[in-house]
Amino acid sequence: MAKLKLAIVVGSNRRESINLKLAQALAKLGSDAFEPSFVRIDDLPLFNQDLEAERPEPTLRLKREIEAADAILMVTPEHNRSIPAALKNAIDWASRPYGKNSWAGKAIAVTGTSGGAVGTAVAQQQLRMIMTNLAGVVVGGQVFITYSEGVIDADHEIANEGTRAFLQGFLDNFAKVAGKLAA
Ligand SMILES: Cc1cc2nc3c(=O)[nH]c(=O)nc-3n(C[C@H](O)[C@H](O)[C@H](O)COP(=O)(O)O)c2cc1C
Repeated sequence: MAKLKLAIVVGSNRRESINLKLAQALAKLGSDAFEPSFVRIDDLPLFNQDLEAERPEPTLRLKREIEAADAILMVTPEHNRSIPAALKNAIDWASRPYGKNSWAGKAIAVTGTSGGAVGTAVAQQQLRMIMTNLAGVVVGGQVFITYSEGVIDADHEIANEGTRAFLQGFLDNFAKVAGKLAA
């Protein structure tokens, strides 16, 4: 079976982002089923409806990348018990213009990591609600990864066997649902 095109959106614009590290590990772990690519969000202007008449190129690129994907994996930090502004900005840009929402009908999975035990749980719940409201097909599964040094090694491998198996199960289920939707 052909691999599913997976667009990975990391909700952080930080160079040393731990969510980027988790996303890289997931891209590697899911490479049997998915052909992953990373969606850039750090060069998007702050959303302003005045810019919609002549949309800046990075916002058009974002829409093209989302629309070309069979499935979307969102890996996000939690900022003040919500999603980071950078991620919301990207979601808003790709949802526009009215009637041309790029998220509609896409298989979407959500995860994230922080240093806290249930860090990102609240952000993930909010993100699921936002993406469902945008007519995305949000695939279930609760994956909260508590990040500490050594959880993910320099080769993007998840060190702990149990964590790796758990994440493999999450990705396998996502691939199964996304594959059905793409068919
Ligand atoms: C503005 C701000 C708010 C934060 N709020 C939370 C929070 O609500 N929950 C949490 O677990 N961590 C919170 N953190 C800590 C982040 O989990 C931590 O900065 C993490 O490294 C962010 O992920 P990143 O490395 O992928 O950017 C916050 C950090 C910032 C900068």
